[in-house]
Amino acid sequence: MSVVALVPAAGRGERLGYGMPKALVPVNGVPLLTRAVQGLFESGQVQHVVIAAPPSDVDQVHTATASLAPAGGAVHVLSGGSERTDSVRLALHHALSVIPDTSIVLVHDAARAFTPPEVIAGVVAAVRDGYDAVIPVLPVADTIKQVDEAGVVVSTPDRAALRVVQTPQGFRAETLKAAYSSGIAATDDAALVEKNGVAVHTVPGHAHAMKITTPFDLAVAEALFSGGQE
Ligand code: C5P
Repeated sequence: MSVVALVPAAGRGERLGYGMPKALVPVNGVPLLTRAVQGLFESGQVQHVVIAAPPSDVDQVHTATASLAPAGGAVHVLSGGSERTDSVRLALHHALSVIPDTSIVLVHDAARAFTPPEVIAGVVAAVRDGYDAVIPVLPVADTIKQVDEAGVVVSTPDRAALRVVQTPQGFRAETLKAAYSSGIAATDDAALVEKNGVAVHTVPGHAHAMKITTPFDLAVAEALFSGGQE
């Protein structure tokens, strides 16, 4: 019974404005992707990682990550697709074709490089406990408004019932395979599974699992994870 993590890392990272794919951007000298893969293995729950890399950097990513796998596991690197969902689909297909006994699949953004290993282990534990789909979430700090096309407020959802969603998102392998085979489109893997009629369970996320998207996020990460704070 293998736990396989799919890591979509093929984004161009234009909002970060760093002039290289976001996954390869270093924070205090270590690329985001390397940190994300380290965290997955440090959870002690993941045997295989399948990375959807920027097409121009497959060899470089392979060299940088191959040695991170534990005994009996491996890092697999393939060329990502044009949208995140294409990258996940390619990585899932690779996992199900090549890695024997894949029973649990995590999908984890390279951009959430500082996700604590405990969050990863918590997601895996909940899938092992019998949930088909599990996502880490945090409460919403701000009031959220729904607006129309003109920017006029339509409604104010009850904040107490809202959650911010992080990764890794965990699934029974069959559940994710069925969702990706359904032809339904969604930008988020759990949303795809939800649209396929599957209940999605939540577990506590962590502020450190923030997605690094903008130069501000990168500055926060550099400040938080400098020197001995890691
Ligand atoms: O751009 P954004 O931060 O939303 O991307 C989320 C994750 O999906 C990132 O880790 C990014 O590298 C990945 N991605 C991908 N393939 C794409 C676009 C994004 O693997 N074509």
